[in-house]
Amino acid sequence: MDHAQAPVLDALTDYHRADRYAFTPPGHKQGRGADPRVRAVLGEDVFRADVLATSGLDDRQTTGGFVAEAEELMADAVGAEQAFFSTCGSSLSVKAAMLAVAGGRGELLVGRDAHKSVIAGLILSGLRPRWVRPRWDGELHLAHPPSAAEVEACWERHPDAAGMLVTSPTPYGTCADIAAIARVCHKRGRPLIVDEAWGAHLPFHDDLPTWAMDAGADVCVVSIHKMGAGFEQGSVFHLQGDLIDPARLRACADLLATTSPNVLLYAAMDGWRRQMVEQGRDLLQSALDLAGELRAAVNELDGLRVMDGEFLGVEASHDLDRLHLVIDTTGLQISGYQAADWLREHAHLDMGLADHRRISAQLTFADDIHTGQRLVTALRALADAAPALPRPTPVALPDPTMLELDTVELPRDAFFGPTEAIPPQDAAGRIAAEQLTPYPPGIPAVLPGERINDAVLHYLVSGQAAGMAIPDAADGGLATIRVMCD
Ligand SMILES: Cc1ncc(COP(=O)(O)O)c(C=O)c1O
Repeated sequence: MDHAQAPVLDALTDYHRADRYAFTPPGHKQGRGADPRVRAVLGEDVFRADVLATSGLDDRQTTGGFVAEAEELMADAVGAEQAFFSTCGSSLSVKAAMLAVAGGRGELLVGRDAHKSVIAGLILSGLRPRWVRPRWDGELHLAHPPSAAEVEACWERHPDAAGMLVTSPTPYGTCADIAAIARVCHKRGRPLIVDEAWGAHLPFHDDLPTWAMDAGADVCVVSIHKMGAGFEQGSVFHLQGDLIDPARLRACADLLATTSPNVLLYAAMDGWRRQMVEQGRDLLQSALDLAGELRAAVNELDGLRVMDGEFLGVEASHDLDRLHLVIDTTGLQISGYQAADWLREHAHLDMGLADHRRISAQLTFADDIHTGQRLVTALRALADAAPALPRPTPVALPDPTMLELDTVELPRDAFFGPTEAIPPQDAAGRIAAEQLTPYPPGIPAVLPGERINDAVLHYLVSGQAAGMAIPDAADGGLATIRVMCD
């Protein structure tokens, strides 16, 4: 295919060249109606590019097929059979994939380190999750993706499940052995969904972890805005093989999608695909080189260390995307929450992830020596400032086995059934009716339908006192927790 083309961008250029005008939404009419103070901040071109996809960019019957053509080019660029654009983030795409694989009832194998959007998919669909244990690291207090052996063991217990969903890379950049997991699923004729929200760039450089389609996944979901250069909410799901019906997948996405997709998002994804095909290898090589230099520079700083080898191993992760600089702050005797807050306040830098002992800096091909230097300078200043910071509030980190709560009700039944809000000290033994998700990384510690225990409660309550954000709790301060009525 001709990857020099960018059909959505070209159609937008034609739209403006033809001096089209619309008696349709969006009501700002190319920015004419937008308050000048809004235009001054957002820019004129944002409004000019915000046109209707159908009866605007394309005609009433979509005969131009610009978006469809851009999707075909995207699929071709990454070696998938089909690609579908979504303007509602991977949060929509994973739900669409789950619905297409498992329908509205039945069971799905899911790695328990799933993102909260997957849990939302379980609540909406009514599916019964059959959890696959991630490899919990009691030392590092994080979850590595599940092994193929755990997936196999789960299939043996639940042979009737419709398919499997695994998250890889994780927000720490750690990866599952997708090829081995795909083989285990395919041996049973069942499809594998990979939530690869953090992996949009993987197809474009051989030194990055294996791209899910190359590893044999049936459908994989990527956020173009995370590691690519799309706008927030731009996501693609890729499909191959014959285990998932493409028409069904599209219909499931349609159930959840907006009827007013933002053409800006389509255009940015289309242009990013062209950029990656033409220059992706070189751009990503520069990013990987920069990541290597920054890793060395950060390791030179007293009290800070970029984590690497400890992520990998038989009982750990299969691979690592080294564009994520996961930096251990324990040597400075401060928490990741403190480090992230200090960097935002004093260096005006925002970090990708912060937990009780780490922060992460996510690099993409947009970074260069200047942004890298800024990071190192800020981290050096943090190291200098750390002795004067208060000692971190301790987080009651549970033994990993205590984090494995029993799922005793369907997530949907627990979420939609009668609930009450009770103080955390009374919640042990009760069945959760809400998600409680330390964010980022966004992996729920408690899900609707799980029986809550003391260890998890102490972890969340002490974590929040130490700086952990739990944005999805009905009571943001965790003075109460929503549980099922007895
Ligand atoms: C693993 C994972 N899956 C899915 C999502 C949802 O992606 P989006 O923000 O594009 O909706 C995220 C977002 O952080 C994520 O980390």
